Amino acid sequence: MVMETETRPVGLPRLNEPAPDFEAVTTQGTLTLADFHGRWLILFSHPADFTPVCTTEFMAFAEIYPDLQARGVDLLGLSIDSVFSHIAWVRNIEEKTGVHIPFPIIADLNKEVASAYGMLMPGESKTETSRCVFFIDPKGTLRAMIYYPLSLGRNMAEILRVIDALQTADAHGVATPANWTPGAKVIVPAPNTQELAEERVKAGYECVDWYLCKKDI
Ligand code: BEZ
Repeated sequence: MVMETETRPVGLPRLNEPAPDFEAVTTQGTLTLADFHGRWLILFSHPADFTPVCTTEFMAFAEIYPDLQARGVDLLGLSIDSVFSHIAWVRNIEEKTGVHIPFPIIADLNKEVASAYGMLMPGESKTETSRCVFFIDPKGTLRAMIYYPLSLGRNMAEILRVIDALQTADAHGVATPANWTPGAKVIVPAPNTQELAEERVKAGYECVDWYLCKKDI
């Protein structure tokens, strides 16, 4: 049997299961997962306040915040720092760069949320959460996850692309191909009977063959 340690997650959360519940102290008061019900939520962790890569990421998250809001997406940060540290850091970012941080940040001092979401990689750091991004849909279902190491700042274009792809898949019942961006053709789900395969090639889609067809939306 594997013994659990304080910082070792029981397991990573799983896609298409309910996102782990939480009630957490944040820079905008106590928030629960249920507070975001009915809207998309991006929950992301950073290793520590007052660190260089994290500061560039916070400025970048602030830059895409209006784009996320326009897509019905809320943003919620997290690290294992106190709420006072978070407040001092976001005030410092605004003072030094003019960038206002508009989203709340969880002060996860007891590592409860970090453990539930598998944000701590003990091989990397026992006190700093990795750069994780969780995409949670309006029903509270975990739909996608990104995990990056401490040294690698995240790509905001990819975060927007993931949201766009998930929302497009939900709205149109399609999938999105490699390197898809909004406006590009989407994948028509592959037919699962011989009869549907025959129909598919005559349906007017752009097809490589019966199992790989694309269409505009
Ligand atoms: C950074 O944000 O620069 C950073 C934080 C923790 C470990 C390594 C880098």
